Amino acid sequence: MAQTLSGLEGFFKNWKLSSSKVELGLLPSFVHLPQVLSKLKTESEWWVGAQDCSTEIEGAFTGEVSARSLKELGCKVVLIGHSERRQRAKETLESLRKKLDRAKEAGLKPVFCIGETEAERLSGKTLDILRAQLGALEAYSGSILIAYEPVWAIGTGKIPTLNEVEEAHSFVWKLAPKAEGVLYGGSVKAENARELAAVSGVSGFLVGGASLKADIFEKIVESVL
Ligand code: PGA
Repeated sequence: MAQTLSGLEGFFKNWKLSSSKVELGLLPSFVHLPQVLSKLKTESEWWVGAQDCSTEIEGAFTGEVSARSLKELGCKVVLIGHSERRQRAKETLESLRKKLDRAKEAGLKPVFCIGETEAERLSGKTLDILRAQLGALEAYSGSILIAYEPVWAIGTGKIPTLNEVEEAHSFVWKLAPKAEGVLYGGSVKAENARELAAVSGVSGFLVGGASLKADIFEKIVESVL
């Protein structure tokens, strides 16, 4: 989602699709949540969420944002375990479990991100990595969306083969049959959205760079309708 306020305003100014047959969500940075929520408060097909939440409900955790505060603001979902948060914040299974619990307690639906690095894929470890990452869900019983995002596909323009996407998604469904959906993320563009959407087990997309401009994001929505 747009990183600047002017980018965000441009996004809404240029958004043309009035209603869509697909569910749409925006996950802006924390500071832009109020603007996005106020723009979309009458648009029931859009859900708004944050890109992370604290492991804690409240207390002295300067700089962190709790799931409860996000819920109070009007968020419906929260990303947990995005590969950039995993790497930069050194997330552990334990911290991810806590975040999942905080989201559930607050009434937010987690979008739980998993995915292998390029080295892990090249050494044939993809499914082992996905299994280990899904271990964070062992004790979790709430509603959840899972996003399979190969780390090496995020922001690089590279995507797995359709067979690889299908293999990963069917594996995730096998291990997490109660998930409400398994999204694919990583270099989704208007040019590849239709073929990726047709892969068995793909319920939707988590789009990064191609969601920053309304006209490009609309093309992705249109191509899967
Ligand atoms: P991308 O990003 O669509 O730009 O590859 C995906 C993401 O950040 O989750």
